[in-house]
Amino acid sequence: MTQQQLVTAGTKMADVIHMNHLLLPVINRFGIRLGFGDQTVEEVCAQYDVNLSFFLDIVNAYHDETYFPREKMRAYPVDMIVDYLLKTHDFYRQKMLPETQQLVEDLIGSCSTDCDNLGMIKDFFSKYKKELENHLRSEEEHFFPYVQALTRIGQVSQGLEEIRSAYNFSYDAHSEEHENVVSKMLDLKNIIIKYLPPDYDNALCNNLLYWLFIFEKDLKDHERLEDIILLPALRKIEQQLMQNSG
Ligand SMILES: [Fe+2]
Ligand SMILES: [Fe+2]
Repeated sequence: MTQQQLVTAGTKMADVIHMNHLLLPVINRFGIRLGFGDQTVEEVCAQYDVNLSFFLDIVNAYHDETYFPREKMRAYPVDMIVDYLLKTHDFYRQKMLPETQQLVEDLIGSCSTDCDNLGMIKDFFSKYKKELENHLRSEEEHFFPYVQALTRIGQVSQGLEEIRSAYNFSYDAHSEEHENVVSKMLDLKNIIIKYLPPDYDNALCNNLLYWLFIFEKDLKDHERLEDIILLPALRKIEQQLMQNSG
């Protein structure tokens, strides 16, 4: 991994996009839209009422995989982190998954033979889509509300296990879901790259692959934030509550 030039408060927002155009959806998740003129990151964040430090850490963590100030990021309010993660979920549901589905259908439409193999891709993707949607929903119904509930209570009047089971949150199940959604995205790319008989339109297949690479990068980054920032924050709150109640 090579170290990238980092984004700073004084960087022009337009230059951020030139540095790494994959940051566009990340920036959009903060409610920030194009048309920056020559404004700096600090000026744009002030205009959109976005926390500058959090914005810089998220953007730089995405831009440069060697940049990950764990302790600093774990100190941000849980609600701020959850809000960003929820916007990412919306982006996957509203944009990434439907666009991927369309690209798969475009590819199937370009097939000149019986297309059995492309049918396999379609089935694989349909199952993957359901699995990812279930994962997003489970985090929204169990993981995030559980963390938020614990941050709001001053002390535990009932056992921690009881509260955890009320939200039905399991560390093991969550970790297994993360492994699956990331590894199956890699499987999908590999089926296309390694095993698909090339009786389809090259440009359409490349479009799908480019898109899957972008999707995979964004998804890995998202799961990394949840695993490295939010889960340890949750464990810390649990430990504190146990000490307070002990
Ligand atoms: Fe998530
Ligand atoms: Fe997740």
